[in-house]
Amino acid sequence: MKLGKIVMTSRPLPEADRWIRQHCEVKSWDEPGIMPRELLFEWLADADGLMSVSAQPAKVDEELLAHAPKLRVVSQSSVGYDNVDVAACTKRGIPFGNTPGVLTEATADLAFILVMCAARRIKENIEIVQKGAWTKTVDIPLGVDLYGKTLGIVGMGQIGSAVARRGKACGMKIIYHNRRRRSPEEEAGAEYVSFSDLLCLSDFIVVLIPLSSESRLMFRREQFARMKKTAYFINAARGGIVETEALYEAVRDGIIAGCALDVTDPEPIPADHPLVYMPNVLITPHIGSATMETRNRMAMLAAENLVLGVEKKPLKTCVNQEVNYK
Ligand code: DGY
Repeated sequence: MKLGKIVMTSRPLPEADRWIRQHCEVKSWDEPGIMPRELLFEWLADADGLMSVSAQPAKVDEELLAHAPKLRVVSQSSVGYDNVDVAACTKRGIPFGNTPGVLTEATADLAFILVMCAARRIKENIEIVQKGAWTKTVDIPLGVDLYGKTLGIVGMGQIGSAVARRGKACGMKIIYHNRRRRSPEEEAGAEYVSFSDLLCLSDFIVVLIPLSSESRLMFRREQFARMKKTAYFINAARGGIVETEALYEAVRDGIIAGCALDVTDPEPIPADHPLVYMPNVLITPHIGSATMETRNRMAMLAAENLVLGVEKKPLKTCVNQEVNYK
């Protein structure tokens, strides 16, 4: 006897997929490409749960919810949820679950990999080898030390703290900016500074804040102009936090030394975008949480939240706690 009917915007990883199918009657978009929104609306007409799989997150807004009169839960396998209108879910009494915590270390690893790759000009050096230009006499591009440098973290949440730990292990000084200052225990030796000070003091800026109406386009020409000419800009959060054209100009014109991005706007970034081919720009395809262990943990947590919500039981990780089941 199944607990209810659910819709999935694509297939989650096998263990999570099996768990969901054991408990629920499933309609899953298994075709290549994005699920057409009209079809999603049609399927949601009698659905009890929606599983928004992070590879193909659904835009969960008033319009979608209006097509889903029976919905008891929305679950998504990601920590970020800028695609979800949480207030609209709350208004309808629908708990929304995301997957914080389980991806902290993997995402911090990737953010710090980007810091290290930028510092040591890894992309340029790999290209020398690939082009067959590695000879005894070639001038190898020299990087910079991390030791003694200042790492500026914008967004000192769980992932920010994990990045700070990595920076400290390399002998970096850590400064951070948040809307809210962390407690001294949470700060763990990192120094709170204003956003404006962070811009001019940092040798590496790592962005880890969620995308919101406040953080959208937080980095524009003006912000890049305040950074050190030798500084590197790292974005491991969301592309929409940065004005792409302004970043491109800042790197092209030597306003900053370079950047490393795991997220872009637009995303995916087209292969012929001028940023893609700049030697001092490294771009990875949004792989912050992309390890087998972490993606499995995310998928399983999202699957559990989904099934719990269908049963009207409390979700393990619920963003709008005020409407979580008791
Ligand atoms: C997250 O979990 O928010 C990652 O960025 C994947 O979307």
